[in-house]
Amino acid sequence: MSVDQQPFLRDAMRRLNLTRDGFAERVGVSRRALDTWLLPEDSQESRRMPEIVLRFVSEILERSAAPGSTLGVYTGKRNEPAGGKLGPHLLSVDQFSRDSVEDLFRIADAMQAIARRQKVTRVLEGAVLANLFFEASTRTRISFSSAFARLGGSVCDTTGFTFSSMAKGESIHDTSRVISGYADAIVVRHPEEGSVAQFASATNIPVINGGDGAGEHPTQALLDLYTIQREFSRLNRLVDGAHIAFVGDLKYGRTVHSLAKLLTLYHGLKITLISPPALALPDNVLKAIARSDHVVTMSGDLAAGIRGADVIYATRIQKERFTAGEALEGYSPRFRIDRELIETNCGADTLVMHPLPRDSRAGANDLAEDLNRDARLAIFRQTDNGIPVRMAIFATLLGVASQALRSMKDASWRTPAYVGPEDALFHGIDA
Ligand code: NCD
Repeated sequence: MSVDQQPFLRDAMRRLNLTRDGFAERVGVSRRALDTWLLPEDSQESRRMPEIVLRFVSEILERSAAPGSTLGVYTGKRNEPAGGKLGPHLLSVDQFSRDSVEDLFRIADAMQAIARRQKVTRVLEGAVLANLFFEASTRTRISFSSAFARLGGSVCDTTGFTFSSMAKGESIHDTSRVISGYADAIVVRHPEEGSVAQFASATNIPVINGGDGAGEHPTQALLDLYTIQREFSRLNRLVDGAHIAFVGDLKYGRTVHSLAKLLTLYHGLKITLISPPALALPDNVLKAIARSDHVVTMSGDLAAGIRGADVIYATRIQKERFTAGEALEGYSPRFRIDRELIETNCGADTLVMHPLPRDSRAGANDLAEDLNRDARLAIFRQTDNGIPVRMAIFATLLGVASQALRSMKDASWRTPAYVGPEDALFHGIDA
């Protein structure tokens, strides 16, 4: 049996909920050997996992699967994921179970080879994505387009209201039905909460929520959680029991709403919410987290709130969503995250994340640029992960995940070893 060993091993560790140390011990191999099997194939230290280990891990997985569960062994030929209520549309993180998140991450792990330009597939050849962005976007729009194109599909898009027929008074219903005749998947970003669900109710073509006002941004939360898991794997940690500090505009920050809710699939987290009182997390999201066994604390003190955190998730102030009369009261340099703050209050393994864009203008009090060469800053590993995760979402919604894994071929063009000039600094931490 030939399997892609990294997705197989990562899937096994997630299913068994074991750290790398715990997994190496369970399988009876050294941690060093496990690390070399998890390295990307083009890495010089990468090693092939012996066949006997593959068989042993498969047996452990089979034995630990509850009767009737969808837990299975990843062979690259497994059927489409059965868990969760994913599809036809992806509108909210509420649609996910822990099983269906892990199914999606298994596919994303396999898509890494394409995202890193080592492999190609044409599995969506002939399919068309409509990317409808009625609000500003750089990474979400381009990464959805790129993910669809890397699966072999083509992309049509429209940006802003000005150049769409909504400026002529067309309803969401009519726009949705019209686009359905042209496309096989639709990504919508819209300034009003609930509008993407309304869009989805007028079509049988899969609609993905690319951000609906201050509501949700489910695919960002999925790539954030995927990043946390991958970084934690390297740091020998589990998501269960972690301390996550959310900082900034928790009222209007839709990425925070989706990620905080998605984290309720895990256990015993410590969540610290750090914001000025006027930008606190909305009650409905707080209530959703309260249903879990997490310990939630609120703080207006950034330094005290981030102390001991495993992840700091910073956000931009969403000024564009402020209602008339709302001001930036209380948002002072006390909320700026910079090198000095991190050096003074955090350990060597704390992760600093941000959905981006960060406001880099003077006086913005967002995430500073003086952490750019610090390995704790995970923001560009986070944006890179947007591609495999969004590829996995399309492959799942369009039912081609297994074919995509089987149809991969070697890429034929040359790409630089590191896409960013500073990436080489972080060599080895991306395993
Ligand atoms: C965020 C968004 O649009 O919600 N960005 C993103 O999609 N990565 C955050 C923001 O705009 O501040």
